Amino acid sequence: MNTLADSLGRRITYLRVSVVDSCNLRCVYCMPSKGIRFTKRTELMSPEEIGIIAKAASSLGTRVVRITGGEPLTRPDVADIASELSAIPAIEDIPLSTNGIFLKDHAWDLADAGVTRVNVSIDSLNPDRFREITRGGELSRVIEGVRTAADAGMRPVKINTVLMKGVNDRELVELARFALENSYTIRFIEMMPLSSNVSFQPGLFLPAALARREIERQFRLTPSTQAQRNGPAVYYDVDGYESKIGFITPLSGNFCERCNRVRITSKGKLRMCLFGDDMFDLLSVIRQGGGVEGVSAMLRECIRWKPDMHHLGIGRTSSATLEAMSQIGG
Ligand code: 5AD
Ligand code: SF4
Repeated sequence: MNTLADSLGRRITYLRVSVVDSCNLRCVYCMPSKGIRFTKRTELMSPEEIGIIAKAASSLGTRVVRITGGEPLTRPDVADIASELSAIPAIEDIPLSTNGIFLKDHAWDLADAGVTRVNVSIDSLNPDRFREITRGGELSRVIEGVRTAADAGMRPVKINTVLMKGVNDRELVELARFALENSYTIRFIEMMPLSSNVSFQPGLFLPAALARREIERQFRLTPSTQAQRNGPAVYYDVDGYESKIGFITPLSGNFCERCNRVRITSKGKLRMCLFGDDMFDLLSVIRQGGGVEGVSAMLRECIRWKPDMHHLGIGRTSSATLEAMSQIGG
């Protein structure tokens, strides 16, 4: 079977499904503090509907389906979603993105249901600063959640840290050390402009190259010998440690030419690019009885229109519809 490719020949092997757009936190770079309208529960995709989309995508070559949000663990049926996905033989990998607050309580069930690995955001190891960045998050719960996920066998555990000048730039070495000593992978991410943060994004923006220089004062980094996968991160091996450090540079180094993914919003719309506003309503196809066949026909048609790249700049977003990252899960 040929893997579906877009008009530039990029093979689409990775589907990211936002299972809910609401979140129990309000990270400053992701959402405004209030005023966001969330999708009604009845408009969200059911586990079965998510299963239909994943089946269709897998018939076209998708092998990885990430469960993301908003915060996926605010959905009481998140383990059912994982079970739907793990029942599809062609799906080999079911990662989860979570803020970690509820992870301790769910990690074992999710691992049983087939979740293979987790990405958790930790932007600061200082509990007060963490609370400020997330507008209320409890760092100790996140750390317990991450530990439990690792105990439950999820590998690799990845920590995502959004770089913020004047906020967490003094603790990058500490964050790296925390990850390395626990055998977690850590990725430092340049803050992307969205309509909700565009007024202050330029003031907080820290290029990944500066973060790397800071970390190299303590650790010896060499470009990872492992072949570059299709993901956005560029990884480095660290002398004396088994896990890697990654940098994600949506602004300073565009990686769109190796993009392998499409996204499904919490409303069941296919979004070909994080910053691409053209969307196609797959959930309607399902609710009108289209089934796996109908969805795969639409996927085939739409993926040809995947944009070549995003057009972000510092203080310049390139999506009119993306207000909060929680709508689409990063
Ligand atoms: N810029 C960069 N990364 C972001 N995330 C959320 N909003 C932004 C942004 N504006 C990341 C968080 C989280 C993931 C889901 O998306 O770090 O780990
Ligand atoms: Fe919630 Fe994640 Fe957005 Fe933070 S970054 S508000 S945890 S969805």
